[in-house]
Amino acid sequence: MVNPNTPALGSCRLISALLSVLVLALVAAALPRATPAQATPAAAATPPMGWNSWNKFGCNVSDKLIREIADAVVSTGMKDAGYRFVNIDDCWQVSRAADGAIIVDPERFPNGMKPLADYVHSKGLKFGVYTDAGRMTCEKRPGSYEHEVQDIQTYASWGVDYVKIDWCYAEGLEPPVQYAKFRDAIAQSGRPIVFSICNWGVKAPWTWGPRTGNLWRTTGDISDHYDRMSVIGFSQDGLEKFAGPGHWNDPDMLELGNGGMKHDEYLTHMSLWAILAAPLLAGNDIRSMSDETKSILMNPEVIAIDQDAKGVQGHRVWDEGPLEIWVKPLADGSQAVGLFNRGESPLQTTLDFNKIGAPSSAKLRDLWQRKDLGTMKNSYTAEVPKHGVVLLKVSK
Ligand code: GAL
Repeated sequence: MVNPNTPALGSCRLISALLSVLVLALVAAALPRATPAQATPAAAATPPMGWNSWNKFGCNVSDKLIREIADAVVSTGMKDAGYRFVNIDDCWQVSRAADGAIIVDPERFPNGMKPLADYVHSKGLKFGVYTDAGRMTCEKRPGSYEHEVQDIQTYASWGVDYVKIDWCYAEGLEPPVQYAKFRDAIAQSGRPIVFSICNWGVKAPWTWGPRTGNLWRTTGDISDHYDRMSVIGFSQDGLEKFAGPGHWNDPDMLELGNGGMKHDEYLTHMSLWAILAAPLLAGNDIRSMSDETKSILMNPEVIAIDQDAKGVQGHRVWDEGPLEIWVKPLADGSQAVGLFNRGESPLQTTLDFNKIGAPSSAKLRDLWQRKDLGTMKNSYTAEVPKHGVVLLKVSK
């Protein structure tokens, strides 16, 4: 029998141990690197809710507007309904100083950004800004390319809670590479800044977005027309597997209340965004919104669908001609079900309970009428208006 303690065998063992370490190190170096996680999952445990200037005001942003909007978020009840972010989109920045620091438009924001952020925070709200990962923003203001860390540090020093980062003038750049720079800068800043990636679906952001930001746009821009809104909203089927708490698909901001759609079309917009667990960023002038707009934007039962703790994005379970049925499973075991009619006249739609895995006897509640419909057996048939929706909660 060989004595395991003989010196020759001992040094053999040492060499083989060293070799194993070397081999392991080489294998580890050859493996893909562990993907760094996004910086701030907890800041968007449910889809972010708030307001953004772009859809209504475009470049017409100012300190005065943002303060008035913050006041209105509180006075209209939007804050209590869950809308927390007040976000300035493009056009607040004009140039860079010699040291590269971003310069805020001195005419439109005479106090600078920090006092404005403080004001928004004093209302119990959160403050957001916009930049671009390329060389210029879409409105040709300075972009953050090669200033990624510096800009995030500046935003953090102002008290920014949300940053939307666009993709104009980014020719030759790779979205996953550029956006990861902001993720790392946010992590370094130590501030839990919500990170909204806005590259319109270029290079399938749902595949790298979850490890990079909290939300990523999946399409080009929305507009205040039923055709555009519905093409975007109904095209989200299949993306549900990429979303979850902390990381969301973003089919763009809301157009509700901007006047270009009819009542039933706006109900479709809000219902679909809720079923999609989409970020809810109002894009209207909330200082002067109608009661009708308020009742849609602030319906607590519809907001609860969007914000449901399970964090599952809904998907289409059935369609036939212009009719579509979408379902979102909820934390309490029930389901939100949207019966949508994309057609040009009212149509009867039947929800078969077995299509959605509901028991043959189920309780139904209509979330727009805010009325219990009672217990139904096997199916439920409703008339759905042209371009409209019947939004239900289906439970045992
Ligand atoms: C677009 C973006 C819009 C808005 C606009 C500002 O690229 O999708 O949501 O931010 O730029 O210029």
